[in-house]
Amino acid sequence: MSKEKKNKRIGILTSGGDCPGLNAIIRAVVKYATLKGWEVYGIPRSTDGFIDIVHGKLQTEELKLKENGYDIPGVLQGLDVLHFLSGSVLGSLNKGNPNDPQVSQDILEGYQRLGLDALIAIGGDGSSEIIYNLAKKGKWNLVVIPKTIDNDVAFTERSVGFDTACNTATQALYDLTFTAASHERVMVVQMMGRDAGHLALHSGIAGGADAILVPELTPKLDEQLIDKLCKYIAKMRLSRRRKFALIVIAEGVKDLHGQKDNYIAETLAKLINEYSHKLCQKGDRLFADMDNIDTRAAILGHLQRCGAPTSFDRILATVFGIKAVSLIEQERFNRLVVWQNGNVDSKNLDQVMPLIKWCHQEDMCPAPLDPDGFMVRTALSLGIFLGGLEPHQRHFSDQQRTYSNAGDNSNTNNPSPNLHQESSVV
Ligand code: F6P
Repeated sequence: MSKEKKNKRIGILTSGGDCPGLNAIIRAVVKYATLKGWEVYGIPRSTDGFIDIVHGKLQTEELKLKENGYDIPGVLQGLDVLHFLSGSVLGSLNKGNPNDPQVSQDILEGYQRLGLDALIAIGGDGSSEIIYNLAKKGKWNLVVIPKTIDNDVAFTERSVGFDTACNTATQALYDLTFTAASHERVMVVQMMGRDAGHLALHSGIAGGADAILVPELTPKLDEQLIDKLCKYIAKMRLSRRRKFALIVIAEGVKDLHGQKDNYIAETLAKLINEYSHKLCQKGDRLFADMDNIDTRAAILGHLQRCGAPTSFDRILATVFGIKAVSLIEQERFNRLVVWQNGNVDSKNLDQVMPLIKWCHQEDMCPAPLDPDGFMVRTALSLGIFLGGLEPHQRHFSDQQRTYSNAGDNSNTNNPSPNLHQESSVV
């Protein structure tokens, strides 16, 4: 006897910092779920939307998302606008206090009132951990879709938003090249990425940077590093006759004392300037023209989270959204949707979360750049300065490596356990 299929009611929310592609995920989920006859409820401002339901600020019916449900005027009516709009139409949240028992009780109650069969949460590693904990408490049927320009969600080679951010940052490097060249300046460009260097390394290579400083290879701006960098710049000016330089620094690199510095590009620009003058005073021919070196800093900031999603991000967003709906249809809950070896897959959140929780406790990045990975090797092969550290001096803990390589292959035909971001992309 065939089991009668019930039309499902699912919720979707976006959590953590926004990035391009969030709306494209929402659009894919709504389209596919609607085709199945399901109802999709968009929860505003991440889990805060559940609280608003409890406090009567939102009515359930207001949250129902319709396919092409956003009214666009005139001849553009019916435009599938979510596919390419950046930001999140649902709004997002980077803070909140779900550890407060009253807050988490309200969230759980709001979820119950909506009567959801499952929830799709789009988030980075921080927000996913929070929602995972809530889901455990409330026995939610959860599926998580990874997004972040930092590309630091463990067990997925790509997160939605990263590709667009790389393009934006690459374009910025291209633009800055000509002003740097015109004034023979050292241009220091600060990129986001929190404590990961993926965005800086990828766009640095694509944008033709001379030096790329990432926390995995150059955790802090110590004197030894500045010495090597200035000598590298001096050599470049003399031997390659390139009088300008483009230096990328990831925001996760710490200052001389190992402290976080929101203006680390400015700090570095100043250090290069001061140290170059010192080198010049040594009387060495190599450093002769370092006296008049001019440095400037540019912080790309939140522009890296802006712009219409690239085609890759739109496709990733779409594939991830459809995968999440399929997982719910198959009643395979508690999963993280992932991108591996050019394919969409999913991982059991119970196997993903120990790494994320451990990294958060230790204040470490769950998916750092692999210091021996092909992107690092590519940069070194081009002669790009990455700090001049030997492999054994690089910053990557064995425990991270073990976790990053320990996959759950229960849901894949690919027996390769190597899920590390860099090595698995080749
Ligand atoms: O995690 C994404 C990210 O853009 C990081 O790269 C950056 O450090 C952080 O968010 C900035 O957060 P906020 O929007 O709160 O300033």
